[in-house]
Amino acid sequence: MSRIAYVNGRYVPHAEASVHIEDRGYQFADGVYEVCEVMGGRLIDEPRHLARLWRSLDELRIRHPMSEAALKVVLRETVRRNRVREGIVYLQVTRGVARRDHYFPAATVAPAVVVTSRSFDRAKNDVGAEAGVKVITVPENRWPRVDIKSVGLLPNVLVKQQAKEAGAKEAWYVDADGHVTEGGSTNAWIVSADGVLITRPAESGILRGITRSTVADMARDLQIRVEERPFTVAEAKAAKEAFMTAATAIVTPIVAIDGAPVGDGRPGKVALELRRRYHEFAHRGEA
Ligand SMILES: Cc1ncc(COP(=O)(O)O)c(C=O)c1O
Repeated sequence: MSRIAYVNGRYVPHAEASVHIEDRGYQFADGVYEVCEVMGGRLIDEPRHLARLWRSLDELRIRHPMSEAALKVVLRETVRRNRVREGIVYLQVTRGVARRDHYFPAATVAPAVVVTSRSFDRAKNDVGAEAGVKVITVPENRWPRVDIKSVGLLPNVLVKQQAKEAGAKEAWYVDADGHVTEGGSTNAWIVSADGVLITRPAESGILRGITRSTVADMARDLQIRVEERPFTVAEAKAAKEAFMTAATAIVTPIVAIDGAPVGDGRPGKVALELRRRYHEFAHRGEA
């Protein structure tokens, strides 16, 4: 079956989908995006993803490309046309197409919208995730507005590649104070010796991950204490467990940091339980 993409008002074959060379996303990374998990053909955590999208656009003063109701139709239609039951939907909005100039284009220039969706072999992904992954640590080198889900991901691309070449899955950024901020495409968590979940507050230095918010709510419902505070690399290495969250990773246990095992070097019980519960919530349509 051929894939379909939504590009500026039209559903087109994926292989032929293209944007103009003067799209400001292409020239300036002047745009934002969202990635939402799809389960049973439904978008998981959709209200939170849309709220974050509007916020990212507002922070960058990019016009909303359409109403929320219209955007929901486009997202569903893209998922439907690609027959995605389990997978992801990707949405990108840029400031539009205009002659290259740093200043914002005229108000008549419409934002450009692209939506794609693809299936994901969740069972295969689960096997990998449940075995746990390794992370390396790298100095934080991104701009301070990482709270905006901008398509400007070059620093993230470079550290993810560095991680891959080091035999790891993710790179954890470490700020000037020695605190872990987040991963190149995930939020970072540890579990203390007494079972408290610790993750950096979303107010500075990280993207407010949607999976992060949902997992924190789920943990609190399970009477697990969640502390939102910065933690150091040393604290993470000495933690009972570590894990990362993202729409594409859900809850993925971390078994080593810079080559040193976390806990007993095997996926932690809390992380695996949260992962299982998250899947349950998503299947029931509650997430
Ligand atoms: C830098 C960064 N942090 C955290 C996340 C996790 O966010 P979410 O749970 O909304 O996928 C992402 C996801 O792309 C990310 O790129």
